[in-house]
Amino acid sequence: MNKSEPTTIVIFGASGDLTRRKLIPALFEVSLEGLLAKGTRIVGFARREKSHEQFRVEIEEALVEFARSKPNAGSDELKVFSSSCYYQTGNYDNGKSFHDLKELLERLDKENGVSPDKGNRLFYLATPPNVFSGIVGMLGQTGHIVDPNSDDRWTRVIIEKPFGRDLETACTLNKSLSAILDERQIYRIDHYLGKETVQNIMAFRFGNSIFEPLWDRRYVSHVHITVAEAVCVEGRGSYYDNSGALRDMVQNHMLQLLALVAMEPPASFAPNAVRDEKVKLLSAIPPIGAGDINECSIRGQYAAGTIDGKLVPDYLRENGVQPNSVTETFVALKLHVDNWRWAGIPFYLRTGKALAERLTEVNIEFRQPPLALFSHMQNGKSGGRGRMKPNMLSLRVQPNEGIRLSIGMKVPGQKMVLEPQDMEFCYEDVFDVESAGAYERLILDAILGDTTLFIRQDEVEAAWKLVNGVLCGWASEEVPHIHLYRAGTWGPYAADEFIKNDIRNSKAL
Ligand SMILES: NC(=O)c1ccc[n+]([C@@H]2O[C@H](COP(=O)([O-])OP(=O)(O)OC[C@H]3O[C@@H](n4cnc5c(N)ncnc54)[C@H](OP(=O)(O)O)[C@@H]3O)[C@@H](O)[C@H]2O)c1
Repeated sequence: MNKSEPTTIVIFGASGDLTRRKLIPALFEVSLEGLLAKGTRIVGFARREKSHEQFRVEIEEALVEFARSKPNAGSDELKVFSSSCYYQTGNYDNGKSFHDLKELLERLDKENGVSPDKGNRLFYLATPPNVFSGIVGMLGQTGHIVDPNSDDRWTRVIIEKPFGRDLETACTLNKSLSAILDERQIYRIDHYLGKETVQNIMAFRFGNSIFEPLWDRRYVSHVHITVAEAVCVEGRGSYYDNSGALRDMVQNHMLQLLALVAMEPPASFAPNAVRDEKVKLLSAIPPIGAGDINECSIRGQYAAGTIDGKLVPDYLRENGVQPNSVTETFVALKLHVDNWRWAGIPFYLRTGKALAERLTEVNIEFRQPPLALFSHMQNGKSGGRGRMKPNMLSLRVQPNEGIRLSIGMKVPGQKMVLEPQDMEFCYEDVFDVESAGAYERLILDAILGDTTLFIRQDEVEAAWKLVNGVLCGWASEEVPHIHLYRAGTWGPYAADEFIKNDIRNSKAL
């Protein structure tokens, strides 16, 4: 990082939950580690009236509660950090507010000894998505955006998800952003990509030679991608009810995971080389249409149950949820990638709220050996010469981040009997450093101008094309096909059956 270039980071929506829980703590950690250039300033912008001092007090409180390094209230490190934070009250549709912001930023530049034509700006849009275009429009109108080709200074804009609520709104948003900004200035954030273990998928695949030759239709039988949440809608009922699991999880995090697991090796680790491969992969997935919606998707909604001993109400009784809502809190999909590497191999995606455990995992199941030579153990007893559990490679993103390979091993004794055993690598045991949070990594990347882990416009649109097919398929059902599941379980029984039967049938072919 060029530390001689201080940056002013402006957070729109600075009185919100994301700012308090994630953004400010992330900025605090990178600042503690000395990774922010001296003179970097943080400016919060929101509609609520607040003084700089009040904002600083709130920041210190948020850091005591949420920062990874657990600072003590009133400590010097908190004071030093909060003294670099400022607040600007304003409205997102009011030119004067943006002129006032500009004045404040120029004043801060001056105090920092930065000449008026040199100040770098990172704008973070942490507001509800309906104001994203308006903010960028105002930034453009009031002269906050500099020429993307300038060598003297830069402007970058981080945009939070959701990037639209369907293909049409995503295209409209992209169009309004690109009217003001060059794509090189737009940083669409998906915090999953900032997780060490998600990045490790690329390291594992392309930094090693052992598995890549097996990574195709000849050796892989199918792939499962699971993102299970043990929380319910947690006070965000009205937001979630307008979104659902497909938009909230599949369109972004899960399709990103799928792209990283299945894409071709990029020619380099340059941002566009990686993103080109992800787009190619997403574009090779035929969208599910109305004709195959029931063969390729299952949607569910949680009913009352218990998670960790706590009672969870029916989804329909959550605050902000419509009493007759058909929003899915669970979805299972079967996708195919129609390319040379993956033709015919099913990818099963499963995600939901109020499930038994918090778990994000990619499981790659390999084909069985062509001949069953050995007996195997099943539940401690000899299961005879049938099929043993196939080899499975699991890439665990959370919790207990790591990699597990299940292989058949000989059970000690006179007979040749095999049993599946795991070879396991656990991040925590091997690396004696706590991983930086995803937001820490991504905000720093944006300051450094590295877009590799941010989503490009064509990626967003390719993902929406897939999700749109499912949304249209569901909308075409006369009676919505929603499977209820008890909170605290692994989702609807129908989803397990659908996947099990599908695997059985594809093996029989
Ligand atoms: N929270 C998370 O963990 C999380 C995770 C991933 C993505 N996101 C995304 O990040 C963004 C911010 O999330 P958040 O949870 O912090 O949102 P939030 O708390 O609902 O809103 C952030 C701030 O925006 C302002 N605001 C609210 N409604 C507004 C409106 N209609 N017009 C203009 N300003 C409005 C409010 O500040 P003032 O009233 O003071 O202006 C509010 O404090 C959203 O796009 C969300 O989807 C959040």
